[in-house]
Amino acid sequence: RSTRFYDFKLHTMTVKKLCNTKKIVAVNNMSPGPVVYAQQGDRVIVRVTNESPYNATIHWHGVRQILSCWFDGPSYITQCPIQPGQSFTYEFTLVRQKGTFFWHAHVSWLRATVYGALVVYPKTGVPYPFPYPFEEHIVILGEYWLQDVVKLERQVLASGGGPPPSDAYTINGHPGPNYNCSANDVYEIEVVPGKTYLLRLINAGLNTENFFTIANHKLTIVEADAEYTKPFTTDRVMLGPGQTMIVLVTADQPIAKYSMAMGPYMSAQGIPFQNISAIANFQYLGAVPDRISIPARLPSFNDNLAVKTVMDGLRSLKTSKVPREIDTNLFVTIGINVNKCRSKKPQKNCQGINNGTMAASMNNISFIKPTVSVLEAYYKGNEGFFTDDFPGAPLRFYDFVNGAPNDAPIDTNSMKGTRTKVVEYGSRVQIILQDTGTISTENHPIHLHGYSFYVVGYGTGNYDPQTANFNLVDPPYMNTIGVPVGGWAAIRFVADNPGIWFVAGVWFMHCHIDVHQSWGLGTVLIVKNGNGHLETLPHPPADLPRC
Ligand code: C2O
Repeated sequence: RSTRFYDFKLHTMTVKKLCNTKKIVAVNNMSPGPVVYAQQGDRVIVRVTNESPYNATIHWHGVRQILSCWFDGPSYITQCPIQPGQSFTYEFTLVRQKGTFFWHAHVSWLRATVYGALVVYPKTGVPYPFPYPFEEHIVILGEYWLQDVVKLERQVLASGGGPPPSDAYTINGHPGPNYNCSANDVYEIEVVPGKTYLLRLINAGLNTENFFTIANHKLTIVEADAEYTKPFTTDRVMLGPGQTMIVLVTADQPIAKYSMAMGPYMSAQGIPFQNISAIANFQYLGAVPDRISIPARLPSFNDNLAVKTVMDGLRSLKTSKVPREIDTNLFVTIGINVNKCRSKKPQKNCQGINNGTMAASMNNISFIKPTVSVLEAYYKGNEGFFTDDFPGAPLRFYDFVNGAPNDAPIDTNSMKGTRTKVVEYGSRVQIILQDTGTISTENHPIHLHGYSFYVVGYGTGNYDPQTANFNLVDPPYMNTIGVPVGGWAAIRFVADNPGIWFVAGVWFMHCHIDVHQSWGLGTVLIVKNGNGHLETLPHPPADLPRC
């Protein structure tokens, strides 16, 4: 086991993109930022110095943070932000985890430019479940705004309306030839004919889910959210923000230049978005470099079937240890709603649909981040920062057998609160996530910190325990699940694995579409440890930022 040390400096950097010059926050002069490489079992130490003008934190997406919840990173959940001029050192051990992860800022909308890959290789001598390819590449899907993203979030929240679409989709930061002034701002992989390549796909996009495809080539998924899957071969994949995937691609086509394309999956209706694709090159060695590339065909933006096909194909490699008995069963509606406008002045705060204020909630509660971190308040026993009454079911009657999605009880006015759900250590948890909405339903990528969970079932319409079909044999083990539009997904996990490790702590569960998170689509699970005592919660590090 070794220690990997990284130094992250956050600062503003000038970039030229889309015929414009602007300042963004970047890490070590790069966006995407530096790749963190480690091996399973390693200790990772990253000193983050914030020389940017904005509050910052870094989250290690998918890392379980066993005995290290202070270093998880979500602002006001496990830590106060690192203020400009300050620094904080993240330290964690990659216990039993390997695969494709990423890191990103977890405060405001800074994640739009502050993100990068975290690659964890298996222990030396431990083979991959597939022949190791010739070469590997990291392919990060992103979104780029010409506006300052931190100010943009504030504006959107103050207006009560929805966010403008991003100005470009990007592949490893490059928009590609579909955008003005970007003909040469193209990411390229050069491939040797006949060889197989491993692509680590990461969706770091802020507010959209995305399809990815390579012209004329098959993609074989072998890992999803840093867990191996049975190989599944497909023409295209869909990743919600927060999801990662390994696909294998063989350069088995005639020598040429092929497009890799990323485009939007927009399951909601009536929301403005850019129906443009970011293009990168999959360039065969020996192909004429300046030739136009063979175009890739993405599914149409609302192709729910294409999404379901990928989801159906995700199966754990090994027979899973999915809990069969359940101690804690939660039914959680997720959705977007419009609250009555609070402002008397017309146009202020009321630019949501029907002149209301856009909001989002779980079980009708719009989550408000407290003014100190939930973890710190919990650890110190300080009262008044959160409550432990997150409802285990929607607050009003919900007829999940006869109701239609639009009957769901959440769409008038959501309540604001910092309500958490306390879960006993060792309990076997099932959460049914039900998409609802009177405005529009949509696919929400729900992410849980601190754990991976088995996706044991999903379907369209309302969850019906009588007819729901569960896979308890080989469900995928993920940390972010795209709940089907107007449908449901059931996840199970053990909180935690007694005798093996402790993941007592405070864990955020939220929609990984940032505007939905800003509107309150989240809650916090507090996992009590052992006997309900606090002693096995690790002590806070000395340099933990103050609020
Ligand atoms: Cu990748 Cu709470 O996030």
